[in-house]
Parts: sequence; C-alpha cells; structure tokens
Amino acid sequence: MMTKPTVSFPVSENVAEMKASSTLAAMMAADSLRSAGVDVVDLGAGEPDFDTPQNIKDAATAAMRAGKTKYTPTAGVRELQQAIIGFYQREFGAAYERNEVMATAGGKQGVFNAVVSLINPGDEVLIPKPYWVTFPEIVTFARGKSVFIETESNDFVLTADMIRKAITPKTRLIILNSPSNPSGRVIPPAEFKDIMEIVSERDLYAISDECYLRFVYPPAQIFSAASLRPELRRRLCIAGSFSKTFAMTGWRVGYSLANAEWTRAMLTVQGHSTSNTSSISQAAATEALNGPQDSVATMLAEYTRRREWLLGALNEIPGLRCPQPEGAFYAFPDVRECFQGKLHTSGDFASALLEQEQTVVTDGAAFGAEGFIRISYATSMDRLREGVNRIRRVAEGK
Ligand SMILES: Cc1ncc(COP(=O)(O)O)c(C=O)c1O
Repeated sequence: MMTKPTVSFPVSENVAEMKASSTLAAMMAADSLRSAGVDVVDLGAGEPDFDTPQNIKDAATAAMRAGKTKYTPTAGVRELQQAIIGFYQREFGAAYERNEVMATAGGKQGVFNAVVSLINPGDEVLIPKPYWVTFPEIVTFARGKSVFIETESNDFVLTADMIRKAITPKTRLIILNSPSNPSGRVIPPAEFKDIMEIVSERDLYAISDECYLRFVYPPAQIFSAASLRPELRRRLCIAGSFSKTFAMTGWRVGYSLANAEWTRAMLTVQGHSTSNTSSISQAAATEALNGPQDSVATMLAEYTRRREWLLGALNEIPGLRCPQPEGAFYAFPDVRECFQGKLHTSGDFASALLEQEQTVVTDGAAFGAEGFIRISYATSMDRLREGVNRIRRVAEGK
C-alpha cells in the first residue's frame, strides 16, 4: 500500500508562535461528545443560547430579496455606519463622524485591525489578566510583546495604578475589556477615566473591547468609553460587536470607532484581507440597532435570573469561591481549594469534569488565570442545575 508522503509545512514565524483558540477547542470538544450521543453539559459556550430575534432575520431576508448581495464599501453601508453613530450619540452623547466608524466581521476583526495597524515589532502591549484568549495571540501575530498585568489582588478589577506601574518606554497600547471575558468584572467608570487620562498623558493608545457592553447587572451600570470627553478618546479605538447583544454570533458583524487616521489604517488592513463583512449581515445589524430593543431586554432578564441562581449555587460548593461578576454571562470561580488527590491544577479540574461528568468548562489558565474555571451561563436553567451538580461532585472529590 502506498503511504502518503508527509509534508512539513513551513509555517511563518508569526503564526508558528500563535496558539490555537482554547475556547473554540472547548466548543468542539462539546460538539463531538454530543454527536457521539453523550449527555454533555456544555458550560463552555461563549455565545448566547437564544435565537437571533425575528425582526433581525426578516431584515436579512428582505435585503436578499432586494438584491443587496454585492460588495459594499469596506467600511460598511452608510445605513449601518449611521445606525452605529446614532446608537453612540443616543446612549453616550458621543459625536462620531462616518470616517471614524467601520463595520467588521465581528468584534474580533475590529481588535485585529486595531492592533496590526498600530503595533511594530517589539512594541509592548499591556493586557490585564485574566484576558480574552485572542488578545495576546493578535499581539504575537503583529510581532509585539504582550505584557500582562496581574489583577487578582483586586478580585480581577483593573485599576489605573496597576497600569501606571506596568508602563515602560516601549509601551504603546493597552487593551481593555469591560465587562470582561472571562471574569465578568467591570472597570468602574471613574477608574476607566483615570486609565484613559494616563493613556493620554503618556501618549499611549487604548482599545476598549465593548463586546459585552449591554450585559451589565445592577447596581453596576452600562458604561462605554465613548462617553468620555473627546480629548480622552483621541487615542482610543472601541471594538464593538453584534454577536452577544443580539444573539448574532454566526452573522459575523461588529464595528470599530476610532479617529479618522486610525480608521483609515484599519480600512487598509481589512480592504486587503476580508473586504466588507457580509452585505446581508450588515442589513440585519442595521435593523438590530434601529429596530425594537425588547429582545435585548428579554435576554438580559433571563441572564439576570440565571446569574443570581448560579452565583448562589456555586458559592455553596465547599472550596469554590466566586466573586460577583457585574457583567457578561460568565462566572469565574477560584477552584484552588478543591485541589486534592489527582487535582493539582484548574486544567485537572476541567479535565475531570469532562472525563467523569461529561461537563465542559474552560480552564482559567487559557485566560492567564491558573486556579480558576470559566462557567458560561448562556445555557438553560435545567442544564445549569445539572452542571452545578456535576461540578459539586468533582469539587468534593467524588
Ligand atoms: C471579549 C471578547 N471580544 C470579542 C469577541 C468577539 O466576538 P465576535 O467576533 O463574535 O464579535 C468575543 C467573543 O467571544 C469576546 O469574548
């Protein structure tokens, strides 16, 4: 029998140094268990368990029927740009111009464009821990150096002081993400302002990833960096997304808001990679912002209910400690006190859950926080209840 010759592919240095996404890997692990007929509890999902609201789907159908199936400008159609500008004007009193806004293929592309259009080899990028897995990988791709900031001493809430201490002459950019994936923690608005004062004083740049902007639970309040005064926004790029807010993860649509020069550079990157995001998704996203918002409120009410139940239930498990996340749809408990027998790391804890209990969570080490696990409550109450029972068994060493 002929054996296939093995090919050793000369992966470029930039890409060879990148790690594959562990959150997407957890998603695939859950998928393959499910397709093998296993009763898996998937608490790994980084996406809403809701369907996209009907008015948004209808707008997409109407766009297809009307022949809106062609290339659009790289920055997106005027209607979508205007809808984004209108939203930030209405909600945060920010006046952005059309040459400062562009539609992207998800918030991820917004962050990618912003980093690669700014970072030169060797530039330092400040990334608070725990971080969304994609941030350091994009920095690696751009040949920058990720400098991580420890925030555990403050229960994962970043402060301006922590930033001040981490700045060196090579620091160029800081990536902020509030509410945070994975911790769900929120940077208080006054602290955010202080951080942006430092960015401005030290001639740095900032990206504010506002993917979970609308998922904030009282008494915390929705806050966008767009509400800061214009001088503090000059060096800021906001990366936003329709994925979580409107349950549109598969539609691949997000946006960035940044000064005209930064936006021009990002358009060059996007114009030579993906071009515009889907014309049909753009029509859907325009409706998402301009149409009724009651579906967002309904989803938020359901997340609120689950969150309250979950936090109570997790904190009753001996050995688990879960600070109150103010936003997103994740709990991020500390599992270190459960380490015993074969459990030495949060990776062991996550593997035990998968192997013994067919339950998927994400190991905190993937986000730079060994000792923690990320539990997504973007799943039904029934599955959450079952998942918590299974977590309890592993935590108790059963
Ligand atoms: C912090 C954060 N930013 C951005 C994204 C990207 O979302 P999308 O590209 O689907 O808009 C995610 C998705 O998980 C995220 O958690």
